[in-house]
Amino acid sequence: MGKCIQGYQIVDKIKDGSVGTVWRAVNTKGQLFALKILSEKNAQRPRKVRQFKHEALLTRKLDHRNIIKVFEYHDVNPPFFTMEFFDSENLKYAMWHQPERVHKYEFPILRQIAEALAYIHAQGIIHKDIKPENVLISDKTEVKLIDFSLGQTKMDRFLQFARRTEGTPLYMAPEQVQGLKCDERSDIYSFGVMMYELLAKRPPFLGTTETALLEKHVKEPAPPIRNFVKTLSPDLEAFLAKLLSKKREDRCADMTTVICELSRWEKRDTVIRLRQVEPARPREKSGR
Ligand SMILES: Nc1ncnc2c1ncn2[C@@H]1O[C@H](COP(=O)(O)OP(=O)(O)OP(=O)(O)O)[C@@H](O)[C@H]1O
Ligand SMILES: [Mg+2]
Repeated sequence: MGKCIQGYQIVDKIKDGSVGTVWRAVNTKGQLFALKILSEKNAQRPRKVRQFKHEALLTRKLDHRNIIKVFEYHDVNPPFFTMEFFDSENLKYAMWHQPERVHKYEFPILRQIAEALAYIHAQGIIHKDIKPENVLISDKTEVKLIDFSLGQTKMDRFLQFARRTEGTPLYMAPEQVQGLKCDERSDIYSFGVMMYELLAKRPPFLGTTETALLEKHVKEPAPPIRNFVKTLSPDLEAFLAKLLSKKREDRCADMTTVICELSRWEKRDTVIRLRQVEPARPREKSGR
């Protein structure tokens, strides 16, 4: 057992992230939690501390089965907040280490992420860092969205003046790359990149340098996904191309539309998989 912070006994480290470290901890009643503690370095930087508090308070307001629950923010040095501990792996890890399972459940996984996004969008919140590392997946293929460190309310977006490009280069929408104001459709683009990566087992854009990669998001059309997965249908390819449109007005208007499409694919995929398990046999001729 590690040290005790504000009544929480640290059990072990879950993961180091760029903002801080996530730990498994128990409270005095023996209940398990995840603690996200801001790194010592970031705790010296007032902007990082403000951002971290913002992340905690923003997420604390959310209540959805596909979003990790945040409980309390502790204004100590370094600051930390408590979350439900979700016994899981992040989707990036699962994609590499359990590819068959991820492949089998790709549409249910995508639909659950889409539902979390539809929920936050309905509250006027955008995530701005949709990527597989920020999606947790349990053994039962339950999915939860995490890491609202770049999340913005409508008011945050209104007050945002600075041209600051924040996000993860592999998944950033063109307008995010350009430092323009983001909206729900920027999350739709990043969701499209993640969906592409899940289905093709590679993201649509790769670059030898970060600048080259970012430029591709802005200028280069995504390679048709059937270049990599021949078996996908042309309408699924067209749907992905729509999600990855450079101009946001050409993308799906909202996440509800995306969910409708995904449910359709999920049903079709289930039918195909059932057929693969039980191939239709020619009817036996009656002996009579
Ligand atoms: N509530 C939780 N339960 C279990 N594991 C968690 C939880 N929250 C986070 N994790 C794990 O910790 C990792 C880092 O979490 P998070 O993305 O919030 O940190 P971060 O510092 O913002 O990371 P980065 O900036 O690198 O994305 C996640 O990818 C996940 O593996
Ligand atoms: Mg993260």
